[in-house]
Amino acid sequence: MGARSRVIALALLLSVGVPSVGGQVKGGKTKQGKGDPGAVRPSAADTSLPSFKNDVFPILKIHCLPCHSEEQMNPSELYLESYEGLMNGGKHGKAVVPGNADSSLLVQKLREPPPFGDLMPLKSKNPLSPDSIRILGDWIAGGAKDN
Ligand code: HEC
Repeated sequence: MGARSRVIALALLLSVGVPSVGGQVKGGKTKQGKGDPGAVRPSAADTSLPSFKNDVFPILKIHCLPCHSEEQMNPSELYLESYEGLMNGGKHGKAVVPGNADSSLLVQKLREPPPFGDLMPLKSKNPLSPDSIRILGDWIAGGAKDN
């Protein structure tokens, strides 16, 4: 009996000790969380604007360049092999209105219903994902910089 009650006492001590240790660990974590400015920084980085070179051009290259190059003599006269070409626009004028994605032909032609002609990318088995369209829109909204 004496041995058993010692075991029980030990068990009690342990069970009392464990939560208090847990509490300290939790307290430490909470402090770290509160004092961690890194928790704010990544979300600020998330709102950073897409870059023409790294984000926009790779999308145009895959989905649009097969047709929108001077070599292809695209009837729209919109040539997308360079930033300058994109900003020069095509037959219907500017394809990009910096700061206003909704007014930009580049985005309008990717959404139903297109303002004229066909939805882009024309007859493609590989249409743009909503994410890619959003990247183009965010880049335009951010000023359509050659960044
Ligand atoms: C299979 C060939 C093809 C592909 C791929 C293609 N286009 Fe086009 N695009 C055309 C043709 C042809 C026209 C002219 C007819 C029309 O406007 O529908 C055109 C017209 C346009 C215009 C109108 C320009 C103007 O001023 O008239 C825009 C903007 C445009 N495309 C954007 C894009 C974008 C952005 C992509 C890639 C996501 C793309 N296109 C992919 C063939 C293509």
